[in-house]
Order: sequence, then structure tokens, then C-alpha cells
Amino acid sequence: MATTTNPNSLPIKTANPSKLSIPRNQSNKNAFFTNPSKFRSTKITCTTQLQNPTPTPTTTKPTSQDRVFNFAAGPATLPENVLKKAESELYNWRGCGMSVMEMSHRGKEFLSIIQKAESDLKTLLSIPSDYAVLFLQGGATTQFSAIPLNLCEPNDQVDFLVTGSWGDKAFKEAQKFCKPHFIWSGKSEKYTKIPSFDSLEQNLNARYLHICANETIHGVEFKDYPTPKNKDEILVADMSSNFCSKPVDVSQFGIIYAGAQKNVGPSGVTIVIIRKDLIGNAQKITPVMLDYKIHAENNSLYNTPPCYGIYMCGLVFEDLLEQGGLVEVEKKNKKKAEILYNAIEESEGFYRSPVEKSVRSLMNVPFTLEKSELEAEFIKEAAKEKMVQLKGHRSVGGMRASIYNAMPLAGVEKLVAFMKDFQARHA
Ligand SMILES: Cc1ncc(COP(=O)(O)O)c(C=O)c1O
Repeated sequence: MATTTNPNSLPIKTANPSKLSIPRNQSNKNAFFTNPSKFRSTKITCTTQLQNPTPTPTTTKPTSQDRVFNFAAGPATLPENVLKKAESELYNWRGCGMSVMEMSHRGKEFLSIIQKAESDLKTLLSIPSDYAVLFLQGGATTQFSAIPLNLCEPNDQVDFLVTGSWGDKAFKEAQKFCKPHFIWSGKSEKYTKIPSFDSLEQNLNARYLHICANETIHGVEFKDYPTPKNKDEILVADMSSNFCSKPVDVSQFGIIYAGAQKNVGPSGVTIVIIRKDLIGNAQKITPVMLDYKIHAENNSLYNTPPCYGIYMCGLVFEDLLEQGGLVEVEKKNKKKAEILYNAIEESEGFYRSPVEKSVRSLMNVPFTLEKSELEAEFIKEAAKEKMVQLKGHRSVGGMRASIYNAMPLAGVEKLVAFMKDFQARHA
């Protein structure tokens, strides 16, 4: 039977939600969530039949005017052209008759997708041939335990240079699997700076040094990376929130890891770039899903990977290459950040950045208002102007504008214009 491949002629009629026999409790809309056991045996069925195979009239196509400027820290905004490409391929990926979500992860179609994603990432970051790229699951948080499990024996010492709460979380998790200690923590100064590495007392017996390259909550970013005195000490970096935002010399690191959901794709994919000689020494207790050897030997296909997420990352990598690679991407990111930090500086104290100038993040810009009682109003008014997710992290308050690769310059310009107008009205 011939199947239609034209996405405009989907033989699907939208079900009328009123005909879905979902249990309802009019007096309490959240009844399902407060007492799920009450509904456990109730079947959720759709009573609407797909009777009419004729095409559903196309509704108005969404345009970029329908979209907001999304300043969320992650999951975050994705490039519009990537979303459109994914939309065009959603129903029938390149004529194979199914979407990427439906295809076997071992079939030739998906293999071509994951291999291309890996090879484009290698090109983008000029990843040397003695490094493996792994597409994993579990978020960057899972790497907080996978790293010590793969690199250390339980009594091995490890150094942590902690410049924000993500580094602190990684430290706490490492305590379960090795002997980490702080060579510096910025906690007492509310994570607003990064010390000069050479001034710190280093532990010459440490197996690795862990840093968080960009602290998403506090907006503190390393501008260059430390080189431990002990040449055998491995540098490990959580690059979740500045991954692929600028060129990086991968050879400086033993492991770079990143959740995809800020700069390179949707949540659900975690990327690990690891020097190959570090693979294969996991502690015996290491769960199979945390063992880099298993994933490397199976080209990230030991179990079912997050196929659609990997496909999306691949589209983003293609897009970054089309933009001219990470040198060009960094130029754009610097320009956006400069405009925003200048607006804060030029406000004469109306807006304030808590972070020391030399380590201000190009990706996450936290700021406060001198009149903190106006912050809620700022966020509310910005949302009305289609600039959303500007609330600072619950642990620090204030505002935060995340301006990842996919945030267009126009978004930052609009925010800055709004900030000036807000100041004029409230100064
Ligand atoms: C720098 C950094 N590390 C780790 C994490 C945790 O990532 P995940 O939620 O993917 O586990 C985040 C999340 O925002 C982050 O920003």
C-alpha cells in the first residue's frame, strides 16, 4: 500500500479533547496528581475514530513572530533554522518513510546520523584522534559520579577548584567514590571570582583536577584553563553551559563533559570527550551504564541511545559549521555579552553585575536591581514584551539572561533597549 510522504497531507484528524475519556474531577483539577492511585486502573482511551483520511486543512503556519526571546538557562533556545529543518524532516526523515524517533538505533539511517554528528563535533572542536566522543544519557549530573568511578581507586586523591554550585555538587558526588578536596572554593564570596591558579597550593598526588568551565547559576567563566604542576594530573571540565561557544584546546583536558540542553541540543543527551588512554580502568563496582569502556567499545550504542536528541545535536553542529565554526561563533557571543554588560555598567548602579569583570560569563549574565523591590516588575514587564525566563536561579535571586549561541543579537538588543526604558521609568 502506498503511503503518503507529504507532510501537508497527514491523514490525521485532531482528536477533540472533550472526547478523551480521561478521568476528571471538576472540583479539583489536580486530583490526578494528588491521588494518582485512584486512577491507576482507569484506561485512557481516545473515542474519536480516524474516519476521514482526507487532509486536515493546514492551520496558519507558525512564524518567527510567534516565538519569544527565551533567556532560559537550559533547556534553552535552539537555532530557529535548526528547528525548521527538524520540522521539515519530522514526519519522514529524508524519504525513509519514518521519523528519526521511530527508526532503529542499529539501522543504517540512524548510524549515518550519529556518525555524522560525531564527525561534525570533531571538526568543530578539532578533537585530536586520541580522544573518543561519547553520546550518553543521565545529564551532566551522572558524570559527577561516572568520572571518579572511571578515573580513580577509592583512596585516590582528587582536586576541586570550585567556582559555583555545579562544581560544588560535583565535589559532593565525588566524595562517594574517591577522596576529593578543595584547592579553592569561592563559596564564602558568593561565587563571584576565579583565583589565579598558580597562586594556589596544589596537591601533587591528585589524580585529577575538576573545574566547571562556566558556572551557569553564578555567571563565572574561566577565560583560560589551569595547567596542574603535576603533569600526570588530569584536567576534567564540566563544560555544560559553554560547550561549543568558543574554540577549546581539547588536548589540555583528560575529560570534557556537557549536557546538551544549553548550547547544542535538547535535554537527554550528555556528551563526553575523553582521552582514550583514560578508558578501561573503571572501579569494579561501576554500573555498566557509567563505564566509559562499554560506551566507547559500542560507539555510544551499547543500549538504546537518545536518538532524537542526538539527531538534534547533529543539526546544531551542522549549523555551527555553516556559521564558520567556533571562531565565528565566539565573535558573535562576545558581541552579545559586551552589549549586555555595557548596559549594566552604563546604568550607574541601577543594574548590577555581582561577578568580577575579568571572569564574567559570555553565556549566563546574572544581574540585580539596586531597587530589588522592582525585580518582579522587571521580569513581568519583560515577559509582556516576549522576553521570558529572566528570573535568576532560586538560590541567588535577581535576574539572569542566558545568551547561548542560539540567542540572536536581536534578542540581546531588545533586552538592552527594554532595560534602558525600564530604568528611565523607574530611576
Ligand atoms: C554547569 C552545569 N553542570 C551540570 C549541570 C547539571 O546538568 P543536568 O541537569 O544535565 O544533569 C548543569 C545544569 O544546568 C550545569 O549548568
